[in-house]
Amino acid sequence: MKAVGIGWGKTILFGEHFVVYGLPGIASAIDLNTKCTFAKNKKGEEGIISNDLVTGERIKYGEHTYHDLDRVIDAALKGTGVQERNFRLELKTNMSLKGGMGSSAALCVSITRCLDKQFKLKLSDERINEIAYDAEKVFHKTPSGIDNSVSCFGGMIWFQKQQPKNVIERIKAKKPVEVVLADTGIFHNTAEIVEMVRAQKEQEPQKYQKIFKEYKEILYPARKFIENTKWKEVGELMDKNHSLLQKMNTGCKELDLLVDVSRKAGAYGAKLTGAGLGGNVLALTPGKVLQEKVAKSCRKEGFKTYKIKIGVV
Ligand code: PMV
Repeated sequence: MKAVGIGWGKTILFGEHFVVYGLPGIASAIDLNTKCTFAKNKKGEEGIISNDLVTGERIKYGEHTYHDLDRVIDAALKGTGVQERNFRLELKTNMSLKGGMGSSAALCVSITRCLDKQFKLKLSDERINEIAYDAEKVFHKTPSGIDNSVSCFGGMIWFQKQQPKNVIERIKAKKPVEVVLADTGIFHNTAEIVEMVRAQKEQEPQKYQKIFKEYKEILYPARKFIENTKWKEVGELMDKNHSLLQKMNTGCKELDLLVDVSRKAGAYGAKLTGAGLGGNVLALTPGKVLQEKVAKSCRKEGFKTYKIKIGVV
């Protein structure tokens, strides 16, 4: 049987950017993923062959050392200690690669898990997560670790970057809930946006102190409301989180339009999710009827939507 490694997609309910500075955040896996399947090389082929998900390009490990996928495979090989150098890694995904769904982290987790299964390494989830974190640095330079953690562990997590060990706790919502992810179609570069926020924070420390304080005031109640499936209250706090992210200049007109359209269609709350300046909006839409209504309104504006549940995988 072919070994398959899965990395879950994610959405951040609370705390993108804040988590970079050691504040806790809440993220959930979504039922979209990247799968890495181990296969034998085709006749006449040698080396580690893979396919880039964005361009479809065939990548031979070691021949494209500038290429993100090559560097991710390199980090996964080093982390797992796999010595074999003659196989294929077939990658497939059903998530948006434009940013905000954690596609890069899902890629790192899927490759690491696939190698772990194929070579019967029996690595713990914690170790797989560490390796995926190192691989994720290829894309995001200084990732907080929230994306790879939720992609690796699944479910809904409370995440806090911390030395010597990050806090990763599972949050138990009583049942999964419907959400809509609406894609602006605008690619965003997470590393650049994180840098932009860092520069602004250095220039305007007082403004950021206030924003961080306001964030803490919404975060702790948010966890309680999620645990008690008080979705109306969760939605209100998501709206507040969006306002804070706008103050950090990570919003843009397409994100604001999607937030507005979602709320007008009845979403309990809506916010940008991920680094911002493009990527996706997360709208909280309990129940299939409301979910479809909100998705339809976003589609009418010409945007692609994903109707998914959080708290399932
Ligand atoms: O990769 P994205 O766009 O979903 O954003 C990740 C979340 C950030 O907080 C902006 C960055 C990080 O490393 O946590």
